[in-house]
Amino acid sequence: MKRAGDSNGLMPLPRATVLETIGFISQVFIPTVAKGPIIRRPKAVAVAERFRLDDRAVQGMQRLHDKHPTGPLFLRIPFQRQAIILSPEDVHHVLNNSPDPFSPASSEKRAALAHFEPKNVLISGRPERSTRRALQEQVLDSQSHVHRLAEVFLPMVQQEAEQLLRRAQQDGELAWDAFIESWYRLVRRVVFGDAARDDHELTDMLARLRSDANRSFLKPRRQKLRRSFLDAISKRLEAAEEPSLAFVMAKTDKHEDAAPADQVPQWLFAFDPAGMATFRTLAVLSTHPEKLERARGEIQDDESGRQYLPYLRSCMLETLRLWPTSPLVLRETTRECQWGERLMPAECGVLIYAPYFHRDDRNLAHAHTFEPEQWLDGASASDWPIIPFSEGPAACPGRHLVLMLTSAMLAYLVEEKQFLLTSHHQLADDKPLPGTLDNYALRFSIRPRSENTR
Ligand code: HEM
Repeated sequence: MKRAGDSNGLMPLPRATVLETIGFISQVFIPTVAKGPIIRRPKAVAVAERFRLDDRAVQGMQRLHDKHPTGPLFLRIPFQRQAIILSPEDVHHVLNNSPDPFSPASSEKRAALAHFEPKNVLISGRPERSTRRALQEQVLDSQSHVHRLAEVFLPMVQQEAEQLLRRAQQDGELAWDAFIESWYRLVRRVVFGDAARDDHELTDMLARLRSDANRSFLKPRRQKLRRSFLDAISKRLEAAEEPSLAFVMAKTDKHEDAAPADQVPQWLFAFDPAGMATFRTLAVLSTHPEKLERARGEIQDDESGRQYLPYLRSCMLETLRLWPTSPLVLRETTRECQWGERLMPAECGVLIYAPYFHRDDRNLAHAHTFEPEQWLDGASASDWPIIPFSEGPAACPGRHLVLMLTSAMLAYLVEEKQFLLTSHHQLADDKPLPGTLDNYALRFSIRPRSENTR
């Protein structure tokens, strides 16, 4: 049980009042978690959009920060040590000092992810974390903008995009279900090779385990299902002969603690938000003609075979700023931490609510508009924390791979076709963008690109 306290003559952290704590939990925490931390609940996303819950959460955070301008704020939650980060400098401090003293393996994450990847890097403590992190970085080519298997992956993206467009033509529109089916086919091919393209069983097993994980501690673990799932992954890793992430994993030298099968579910799972963000970017591009023209100019001049499209990558990053798919970045202190004259206790949960920093219109000139250019000219590299992939030693090692695949998917979709958003009439380049964009409800009609837009 975690309890608040102070020592060494230092002051404890500033404390929220009971009302402020209740306000934070009801306005920020519950609406965010209700949408599904591990697998999204489409109905809850629709409710959040309808009642503008994410906009309200950001406003609530602004008020809280106004009242407590400095220092992490300690919440009054019985039997639990929990602090929230309010100042931009503290975001960098926490993320850049992970995993020690700010461990990514927080108790909430351990309880949730143990349902399907108990030895994943995200919930590993020292010393295993370094071994598992190194393996992830090697397989995902974290240091490189272009993955070593780009020449294999890009044709896969093109084939799935073409098939999706053919299906949309038959259906008379493009909606989420068709998009995500194609996206998952692509993901299975990238992760395990062509032979896994139609292995829906594997993705379905993971979906069931992820839905248990949404309820974290409250749901007993389905040990048998978890074993079958991890066994299926191990078999695919052993059989990996086609170029794929599994193939790279199989060929990489591994430490005995690396737990390769437990690293793979994170890939399958994390490609989900990448699909959501791609579909949202399509919606934004289809309603922002100038940005779309710039993207098409880049596609036309591209000499990289779609491997490196900086503007479309910036569009993805900008969508992830507007609608971050990891809104809660969690840490837990491994020991007491001094914060100026204040002390944060050991085993204290630390929560960063990314949408607050991404949408704080008191500090960001373009908080609610789509400005991919800011990722190109480095404005987003300023001190203000914009952290869709987090930052520091535990930041997402899949970032470049995600941006490569999603930007290529967008390029193949918009190159020859005109998308007209038939849902979400509120999305326009002269209106502030809403805090929630329900990807499940987006619908497009498609027609060939007319001559005058070429
Ligand atoms: C839009 C897509 C994605 C976003 C926005 C995203 C974002 C993130 C974020 C915010 C974290 C947490 C970092 C932290 O706690 O500080 C993370 C961790 C991680 N991500 Fe991603 N991710 C995405 C897709 C992927 C993909 C496709 C892969 C693999 C193929 C991947 C692999 C990982 C791994 C292995 C970690 C754990 C890193 C660690 O604990 O050291 N991610 N990601």
